[in-house]
Amino acid sequence: MRYYLRILSYAKPYWFRISIALITAQVVAATDGALAWLVKPMMDRIFVEKNAAMLKFIPIAIIGLYTVRGIGRYLQNYLMRYANLRMIMDLRTDIFRHFQRMSLAFYKDRSTGELMSRITSDVGAVRNANVGLVKNLFRQIFTLLALMVVLFRRDWQLALMACVTVPPSGILIDRLGRKIKRLTKESQEKQADLSTLLVESLSGARIVKAFNMEKQETKRYRRQLHKLYSLSMKKVKASELVSPLVEWLGSLGVAAIIYVGGTRVMSGVLTPGDFFSFMAALMMMYSPIRKLTNVNSSIQSATAAAERIFEVLDLEPDIKDAPDAVEIKEFKDSIRFDQVWFAYPDDPETWTLKDITLEVRKGELLAIVGESGAGKSTLVDLVPRFYDATKGALYIDGTDVRKVTLNSLRSITGVVTQEIILFNDTIFNNILYGRPGATFDEVIEAARVAHAHEFIEDLPHGYDTVIGERGTRLSGGQKQRVAIARAVLKNPPILILDEATSALDTQSERMVQVALDRLMEGRTVFVIAHRLSTVQNASRILVLDKGEIKEMGSHQELLEQGGLYSRLHQLQFSQDYEDKPLSAVNF
Ligand SMILES: Nc1ncnc2c1ncn2[C@@H]1O[C@H](COP(=O)(O)OP(=O)(O)O)[C@@H](O)[C@H]1O
Ligand SMILES: [Mg+2]
Repeated sequence: MRYYLRILSYAKPYWFRISIALITAQVVAATDGALAWLVKPMMDRIFVEKNAAMLKFIPIAIIGLYTVRGIGRYLQNYLMRYANLRMIMDLRTDIFRHFQRMSLAFYKDRSTGELMSRITSDVGAVRNANVGLVKNLFRQIFTLLALMVVLFRRDWQLALMACVTVPPSGILIDRLGRKIKRLTKESQEKQADLSTLLVESLSGARIVKAFNMEKQETKRYRRQLHKLYSLSMKKVKASELVSPLVEWLGSLGVAAIIYVGGTRVMSGVLTPGDFFSFMAALMMMYSPIRKLTNVNSSIQSATAAAERIFEVLDLEPDIKDAPDAVEIKEFKDSIRFDQVWFAYPDDPETWTLKDITLEVRKGELLAIVGESGAGKSTLVDLVPRFYDATKGALYIDGTDVRKVTLNSLRSITGVVTQEIILFNDTIFNNILYGRPGATFDEVIEAARVAHAHEFIEDLPHGYDTVIGERGTRLSGGQKQRVAIARAVLKNPPILILDEATSALDTQSERMVQVALDRLMEGRTVFVIAHRLSTVQNASRILVLDKGEIKEMGSHQELLEQGGLYSRLHQLQFSQDYEDKPLSAVNF
């Protein structure tokens, strides 16, 4: 319940409209009470006494009451729905903003589908509950109160009899409510699994087809759907049981009241008008009670969903600005790794980087080579603080990177990786992502530097071509050049190239390489080398093996040392491997 109250705290900014809505809800409830009240004068004065004035007054009163009631209901629903939609919008914005603040480790631990389900289906469950809540809860409670007044005024003893059925109904509603909440939690989890599966098989459509897995994927989806269906059916069994059971309990009360009330009318204690007015009020209570029990079910569902929402929302990002973080305006001197040890949070036993001490001076080109899994990507990921060192520290111009604002650190570092992330937008906007304030000419210039201008011009809509999700409408080499143009536009003093060309075929690789060479000019570069030519040109080469620095020096020095690097080089050279991908060679 605590979580649900937190959701309701999102209503605060809209308190004024909600207050008005609550007042109109009371007006509507009062009209319900008044209608039940009118049954007595109608019976006793019109039908028993045959009073002509009343015959005119009551129909007019009824029209008047329904007019007020209609306007009140419209106003109440309008205002409450307004508040609800705004709350949901605010909540989704908060979750999304929170996602944006989280570190990469957070995304590694969770699937895209899982995160999507929190912001879509969990928030959706909350929204549905709120709709029920805002439309029904307050008005129905007020209506019940108004009708209760009528009951007690007409005959308090009968009214007390009617109340006897309340406690058992309450217990019933509570029991089933708990069950519904538990089932909702499970089904929201299933919903998340489903989203994950959906994201995977839709975005992996190419692989699904290549392996002829369409049928299996459908089966897998159907199986998950079936699990969700079973849970939903269990929930239906519980939630649909509430109203009929409560109704049946109510019928016991009604039966007793007709018997006792009828006896009292026969003995003259009550007028028929009293009795019918009482019965009208009692019958009119049926609908609010039914709606309230449904509201309870949906609040239980929403509580379960809210729990899942706040579970994520309450996580603190593990990488964030220190309270005393400083801005760095420019990169002046060096980046220094000081006895850096690193283990991934999900595998704290294994050191991925061991005792790395290293200084890269401004303008240097550092090539990092090593087997796949040696820790090359991990090493460079520490520079823009995608992860923080587990032990030891990283200094930029003498300042610990953990004492530098993330924003300023990331604005002086540029990253181009093997995995190219483009957005489903125009090429122009994808390049502009590098520096959103850039001018049109600057974007074109960046594209020229990245060797992308020519092919972009040849596209049907040039720079306005929309490139599809993840850039599916471009070839690998074209995508990479757009990504490079983006980095050129950003113009960061520190550049990280993580196997930027390794996913490409030889032909497009050559063009990308030219673009990369231009991008590297005048910058401090960490390049996870893929081509021997790049490595040879590096000011220093770092050979990484199982997270440790094995060798470090210039191409010439390392050859003279006769270690790992020279063995590799000889192997390549003798087999005429010159300018062949390093990955083709077994380290
Ligand atoms: N997010 C992660 N969580 C746990 N282990 C990881 C993660 N990313 C990489 N690793 C492990 O860390 C080691 C180094 O990985 P990586 O730096 O990507 O190597 P390289 O780039 O040299 O191929 C590998 O053994 C890999 O399995
Ligand atoms: Mg790597």
